[in-house]
Amino acid sequence: METVVSGIRPTGNLHLGNYFGAVKNFVKMQDNNNCLFFIADYHSLTTHPTPTDLQGNVKQVLAEYLASGLDPEKSVIYIQSDLPEVAELTLLLNMNAYIGELERTASFKEKVRQNPDNVNAGLLTYPVLMAADIIIHRARKVPVGKDQEQHLEMTRKFAARFNRMYGAEYFPIPEPFNFGEELVKIPGLDGTGKMGKSSGNGIYLAEDPASIRKKVMRAVTDAGPVEKNSPVSEPISNLFTIMSVVSKPETLQYFKDAYSDCSIRYGDLKKQLAEDIITFVAPIRERILEISSDSEYLRKVVKMGKEKAHASASQTIKDVRELIGIRPF
Ligand code: TYM
Repeated sequence: METVVSGIRPTGNLHLGNYFGAVKNFVKMQDNNNCLFFIADYHSLTTHPTPTDLQGNVKQVLAEYLASGLDPEKSVIYIQSDLPEVAELTLLLNMNAYIGELERTASFKEKVRQNPDNVNAGLLTYPVLMAADIIIHRARKVPVGKDQEQHLEMTRKFAARFNRMYGAEYFPIPEPFNFGEELVKIPGLDGTGKMGKSSGNGIYLAEDPASIRKKVMRAVTDAGPVEKNSPVSEPISNLFTIMSVVSKPETLQYFKDAYSDCSIRYGDLKKQLAEDIITFVAPIRERILEISSDSEYLRKVVKMGKEKAHASASQTIKDVRELIGIRPF
């Protein structure tokens, strides 16, 4: 059994990108691996949520994990801030993380561009905290979407650097994981870029049918194929990508063929896509509503997760302290 770790920031409801990039694989991996999945509340603090929003979002993501099929009997499900060992390991890893490499991280550069008035140190050291999350359990596999690839590359670098520095093969070098396939990137409905919580271009697992229909019908398209077999434009290829994960293969093929022979009607494409998304999210949405009202159960799940996660993390911190030389004289 290999150790698997991954997490999601509690910055709002989970969307189809989170599901198909990450949660779907969490669920698939929990039968055959030693899985730990957490809610990355420390990471979400870089954008300064209000205390009430933070608390509510942690609870919501937990309910959405469970509604999507994570099973607390099979996976360790916990809240990042319940593991103080993660904060300690971050501090230790920071000593060997260089400002230059952190400043070059694409996600950091993007945050600086988006919000030059909030370039806090937490944003800069974000990849170090993420590395600590992963290697605190000495994980080997990390199921994530495409946008986390560079962060994973940095985790690998920090783990290897620690091993080299202390002359020990202590940390396994973890890999981003999607069952041997390319990491997933689910696009948004706005014609360009990935689906994201902050960009308002997503469909949520907890979303109701009327709202899904409205969003999909408004999705950006183009003027239509100009001639037979013309290349598919980005907005349409994005809709095809979403269709490829929620619809039947023959449905997708039908619309691709219609595009190729110029008979496609975007209204029909969108109607079908909306109905297929609704069919897909309906049972998850129902379970979210059920589970999120059961606070007692949710508290029980995180309490159990905290205990199990702590057992794994405390051993790592003990070993790391010893390797570094933080030991009694
Ligand atoms: P976050 O919270 O932005 O996203 C959570 C997971 O969802 C995936 N994802 C997507 N996949 C495909 N298409 C999309 N449009 C899409 N949008 C989001 C992300 O790739 C991710 O797997 N830094 C991480 C959280 C984190 C973490 C970790 C992950 C903290 N520590 C340790 C793994 C291991 C993040 O911000 O993900």
